[in-house]
Amino acid sequence: MKRKIGVLVSGRGSNLQAMIDACAVGELNAKITVVISDKPDAPALRRVEGTSTAAVVVERKSYQTAEEFDSAVASVLEEHGVEIVVLAGFMRVLGPGFIHRFRDRVINIHPSLLPSFPGLNAQRQALLHGVKITGCSVHLVNETLDGGPILAQTAVPVLPDDTEESLSARILKEEHKLLVKVLQEMCACAP
Ligand code: GRF
Repeated sequence: MKRKIGVLVSGRGSNLQAMIDACAVGELNAKITVVISDKPDAPALRRVEGTSTAAVVVERKSYQTAEEFDSAVASVLEEHGVEIVVLAGFMRVLGPGFIHRFRDRVINIHPSLLPSFPGLNAQRQALLHGVKITGCSVHLVNETLDGGPILAQTAVPVLPDDTEESLSARILKEEHKLLVKVLQEMCACAP
């Protein structure tokens, strides 16, 4: 049985694309049933246009409170039978209510070797600190920002002439592989 994945995005969607591609060639025994964006113009949404994956926009401004927004997102995921939730460049922090509804079933991809450089601009933080090795992490999402249990990591070298762009691109390539690898493992486990 294919596991049902829901993906939350806010932007470009290259990690979403890596998952779409892995499902298409059977590397991932899963179906992405829904992609939810908090930004109506997120390029990620276009990646599932014309496919059987639903693309849904849930904007924060449509709800009075963060809890109501979280609950709306959770309801859309549940309507689509989602078993595993992937935060792939989703720029909002989900509250305890959401985490509780999907406990241990929400993962996030982050462009650093956590616990170093949580939060925004992880690649810039790595350059500013002068680290020689950084990378990417996939972790379970809990109530702490980028702080849940780490599931897998890949190390990436920082080169002497790196810019934020060149370093981000080198990390991103590894993110795509790492995310698919973790999902393969999760999909192989019994629900
Ligand atoms: C990635 O670097 C991811 O680690 C971070 O946001 C970026 C999303 O990129 N959380 P994309 O939208 O998947 O291309």
